[in-house]
Amino acid sequence: MAYPYHMNINKPFKILVADTFPAQAIKQLEQADFAVSNKPHIQPQELLEEAHQYEILIIRSKCRLKTEFFKNPQKLMLIGRAGAGLDLIDLEAAHEAGIHIVNAPEGNKDAVAEHSLGLMLSLLHKIWASAQDIRRGVWDRNKHTGFEIKGKTIGLIGMGNMGRATAQLLQNFGCKILAYDRVQMLQGLPSYITSVSLAQLKQEADIVSFHIPLDEQNYQLVNETYLNAFKKSIYLINTSRGEIIDHSCLLPLLNAQKLLGIGLDVFENEKIETHTPHQKLLYDQLRQDDRVIMTPHIAGITHDSFEKIGSVLVQKILSWRSSLIQN
Ligand code: 3PG
Repeated sequence: MAYPYHMNINKPFKILVADTFPAQAIKQLEQADFAVSNKPHIQPQELLEEAHQYEILIIRSKCRLKTEFFKNPQKLMLIGRAGAGLDLIDLEAAHEAGIHIVNAPEGNKDAVAEHSLGLMLSLLHKIWASAQDIRRGVWDRNKHTGFEIKGKTIGLIGMGNMGRATAQLLQNFGCKILAYDRVQMLQGLPSYITSVSLAQLKQEADIVSFHIPLDEQNYQLVNETYLNAFKKSIYLINTSRGEIIDHSCLLPLLNAQKLLGIGLDVFENEKIETHTPHQKLLYDQLRQDDRVIMTPHIAGITHDSFEKIGSVLVQKILSWRSSLIQN
């Protein structure tokens, strides 16, 4: 993006940090001569009203940035997403308004990969279910005899940062790793990953893990038809976005033993207090089932990834500013 003539390059760029962001990263930005307003508790409405007075906005997932937000960008030039998902931002409107967007999936890919693996291990080895029984005073080794990842075929859907990091962790488990990505960017994959068509992945996989963004194409991509097209009964893991799955198909497929286990970190509606009676019933049934593990959208956020996201984003902001000055 060319340097806008109305900007005074000698004045420090102002940054609104509108969510929790590491102190170290804020310090780095200040040392690099940005004027930082750190407002982690700013309310969504206030954020939407104030953001245009800053050259840079740093956000997480406090609110949606819809088309209207980009109608009159005023000073706003860059949005830094402290995390991976860009689904709350109208990317097309941002692009049309000339606003550059950067995110930081490199900062939380390992957290997501570890969590995905944790869900797999916990389901296959029945760690969660057996620990629950122990809490209730039940000692039942037969009921909780599990399976190994070794020798299984893992289908990874999505080969961006998260998918690749998950494959990297799995490489020492003695399993076959198949990868499918709708964007054909699968050249240069490490030798432990085999790039396949979706049809082949569905033929072979025992475990399927989703690492795809939420966008128009992926919304409710995974439904009854999609899952029934797998040849075997499978374990399903989702740490990407809840809305990629039509959740109403999960219980019937679990009861039909098409799904052997489900590990979910993300949900269609993550505000429990706003669940419709239908959603409440569905999630109540899922959480009472031993074959289901649900965690509250924590895969990408660890104490470590919080810091890493901060430093990745700071580096991207600095590069953006340098490119602006050079142009
Ligand atoms: C991400 O997209 O990086 C993760 O889902 C975490 O999102 P959050 O910043 O909204 O917690």
